[in-house]
Amino acid sequence: MGGSLAPAGPVAAEMATLWWALLALGAAGFVIFAVLLGLALRRRHPGPEEPDPQAAGRRSHRLLVGAGVVQPLVFVIATFALTVVAMRAIPEASDVDADAVVVDVVGHQWWYEIRYPDLGVVTANEVHIPAGQAVRLRLRSADVIHSFWVPQLAGKIDLIPDYVNELVLIADGPGTYLGDCAEFCGLSHTWMGIRVVAHPPEEFDSWVQAQAAPAEPPTGAVAMQGQEVFLQSTCAQCHTIAGTPADGAEGPDLTHLASRATLAAGTIDNDRMALEDWLTDPHAIKDGVEMPPAEVDGDQLDALLTYLEGLQ
Ligand code: CUA
Repeated sequence: MGGSLAPAGPVAAEMATLWWALLALGAAGFVIFAVLLGLALRRRHPGPEEPDPQAAGRRSHRLLVGAGVVQPLVFVIATFALTVVAMRAIPEASDVDADAVVVDVVGHQWWYEIRYPDLGVVTANEVHIPAGQAVRLRLRSADVIHSFWVPQLAGKIDLIPDYVNELVLIADGPGTYLGDCAEFCGLSHTWMGIRVVAHPPEEFDSWVQAQAAPAEPPTGAVAMQGQEVFLQSTCAQCHTIAGTPADGAEGPDLTHLASRATLAAGTIDNDRMALEDWLTDPHAIKDGVEMPPAEVDGDQLDALLTYLEGLQ
């Protein structure tokens, strides 16, 4: 995961610059303080070169006032000023064009629901954005407080129940930027990864088109059997697959599950073996997860996996 000191967008760059400026300021402050303190302590003791103890005392006093009052004051004011300048440079939702892409992010224990209200796209744990454009994120939580943090693109922002926070995301260029939930939110807080994928604008448009479409009907007898298994099991009560009767809202939308890079919010790679482990024993992979194990095995499990793998 790239850190906040490897910024990939103007907002993160602004914050990285501020961080370096504060580090320089702090280091300079420490050195100046140490020197002044050293001088004050040394001159406290009149030696042969300092015959007047009273003059030495006054000088020490001035040095201590300089080190203990004036210098910290100057540095606190400088820190405040640099921070205000950086805050003003960071775009807010109101600075973004009215036709910017809007993404609703809803935090759940322990995954992210991702919706594009104007584009008809619903997905999970991956935010796809056009590179080089400001994107408006509206974030809230369905349960406890989570925190959305993709260090290479922007600062942290809390996902709170019943309140919408906004964040502007801008990626300089195409790429995948990883992030985490940055607020302790229960047993599997560590397994709540977020992935931002920035595409060249035309590629983003094709992504939207693919994601907005309902799931392709299963092809082949095995996949068709798998769809039956899905619809008749508990899966369909919690998950939606657009184009089928499954319209559960508890868990992630699975319409284009196979197009996503990971399962369980970045916990495991999205391949058939991992998917089988996840379906049969999700708690072994992610403690506390609300998904029950799928009660299928043998041919039925195979068919279910084939069906889910086909949800491109
Ligand atoms: Cu969600 Cu920590």
